[in-house]
Amino acid sequence: MSTQYQHDILIIGSGAAGLALALRLAEHNRIALISKKNLTEGSTLYAQGGISAVHDKNDSAESHIEDTLNAGAGLCNRKAVEYIVHQAREAVDWLVNQGVSFTREQRADGSSDFHLTREGGHSHRRVIHAADATGREIELTLEAQVRRHPNIDIFENHIAVDLITGAKLGLAHNRCLGAHVLDNRRHRVHVFAARHTVLATGGSGKVYLYTTNPDTATGDGIAMGWRAGCRVADMEFIQFHPTCLYHPHAKSFLITEAIRGEGGKLLLPDGTRFMARFDARGELAPRDIVARAIDHEMKRLGIDCVYLDISHKPAGFIREHFPTIHATCLEFAIDITRQPIPVVPAAHYLCGGIMTDLRGRTDLPGLYAVGETAHTGVHGANRMASNSLLECVVFAQALAQDIQSQHAQTPLPGKLPDWDESRVTDSDEEIVVSHNWDELRRFMWDYVGIVRTDKRLQRAQHRTELLTQEIMEYYGNFRITADLIELRNLVLVADLIIRSALLRRESRGLHYIRDYPQSDDSRPPHNTILSPGLTPLSPGRKTGSV
Ligand code: FAD
Ligand code: SIN
Repeated sequence: MSTQYQHDILIIGSGAAGLALALRLAEHNRIALISKKNLTEGSTLYAQGGISAVHDKNDSAESHIEDTLNAGAGLCNRKAVEYIVHQAREAVDWLVNQGVSFTREQRADGSSDFHLTREGGHSHRRVIHAADATGREIELTLEAQVRRHPNIDIFENHIAVDLITGAKLGLAHNRCLGAHVLDNRRHRVHVFAARHTVLATGGSGKVYLYTTNPDTATGDGIAMGWRAGCRVADMEFIQFHPTCLYHPHAKSFLITEAIRGEGGKLLLPDGTRFMARFDARGELAPRDIVARAIDHEMKRLGIDCVYLDISHKPAGFIREHFPTIHATCLEFAIDITRQPIPVVPAAHYLCGGIMTDLRGRTDLPGLYAVGETAHTGVHGANRMASNSLLECVVFAQALAQDIQSQHAQTPLPGKLPDWDESRVTDSDEEIVVSHNWDELRRFMWDYVGIVRTDKRLQRAQHRTELLTQEIMEYYGNFRITADLIELRNLVLVADLIIRSALLRRESRGLHYIRDYPQSDDSRPPHNTILSPGLTPLSPGRKTGSV
């Protein structure tokens, strides 16, 4: 049986962004929190390095802002950057009040304070962390709070399929009214109606063959928002993390940048360092530069990986600061206190997303986006390390305030149409879905990766068009499954990435294209904005996202 649920607020996704938002709103609202797997599964759980916030007396907000703008290569929205930097201490204090326990160090006078680590692009130590498992500490602490809150109804193994909008129902007033959601255990699609709907669905790393992201990162929020009429921005800026463990049996295991922050060296197989040849900041250059340098060296020498070595530090220090990495590498017979770690770059973070303003509002009334799925303008052409968890927590608070202020004027939607399954049957060809998944992720890796060319992008676009046709035909004929929902979203996100990359006729930040190896400094830097149903806006236009 299909059920009609009604809530004040529907939050789709339960990472740092979704959980923080639910807790900020729960006192005065009835909330549906849906999550496509277990509540805790998502990128947040695996975040290692930490959350950035100015804390050291020699550091300053101005410096955090400048570093973020520099990493963003001219494309950050300064107001959004200033906003998260100025709210950072409040965000960290809020997390601590929820029970999050960050690593502390003893001062000479016997008191203790946060231990601050360092990552690429940061000119000061300003990364607050919980050893090398910061995301886990945040996610599990917030999860515990959410589970005990009487106003939050939790729906695990529920995957949102599409948003329900006034326009889709032929109503005169277009706004978001909720979503159709597949209960993946009982194979039923339910209707979730809400005054406000929030996309907190995370990133889309699974569009690439090699990624640090968990399986949940299939760009669902971006695809749903786009289909509902929202613009997306800067989808070409995919961050490849320089150091993912290279081992045939290790699936997507990140080696935190904080290892380089604490003195880790990148080495070629013969033991020589190479980063100084690429950037004066060496191993702590921003990620785009380090990932490209590794890619360059791997291709130049025909090697499968490079090495990251922290073994010159005392073993006790390594075990204390990097317990997760130490233990995981040991499972693969690599003792990081004595040996270098084999590493390769992998897709890590999507800087682009559904365009929002500083209150998290999208183009569609009633629909908000927060976290990695949103484009607030904070990250520009390259996100600085540890600014993402910060963005999730800070913007969750901004959305909460805005949603609360809208509450009185926003009625609950009435009964909404059930999901129509009258013209579909069960699939007898699941192989089509798995084949297309593999094909898509492989050509995205080969053609739309760290180094791009016009020709490769066009090839990828052609393949995406063919896959889209096939997938849409399949989607039209067969009953939906979680895999099919995700594949349909992934192919759309791939298309948006490729279209955006083709529009940017320069190299900037994370987008490096051999045909245009320099940044175009003849005009002001511009965001790439795509609008559903319209031709892409001219690349010369700035976002109106504030
Ligand atoms: P997520 O945490 O990914 O949560 C998304 C949620 O949405 C999940 O619950 C998922 O199940 C759900 N979902 C998705 N689609 C649907 C759907 N259709 N229906 C229902 N539910 C859905 N950033 C930092 O700032 N510091 C770090 O140290 C750091 N380390 C990282 C390490 C790794 C390995 C990775 C992968 C990322 C790291 N990042 C880090 C980036 C950061 O972790 C993420 O950007 C951030 O956690 C995203 O949070 P989120 O809430 O937006 O999404
Ligand atoms: C890391 O720990 O290297 C990841 C940090 C980030 O992505 O912000």
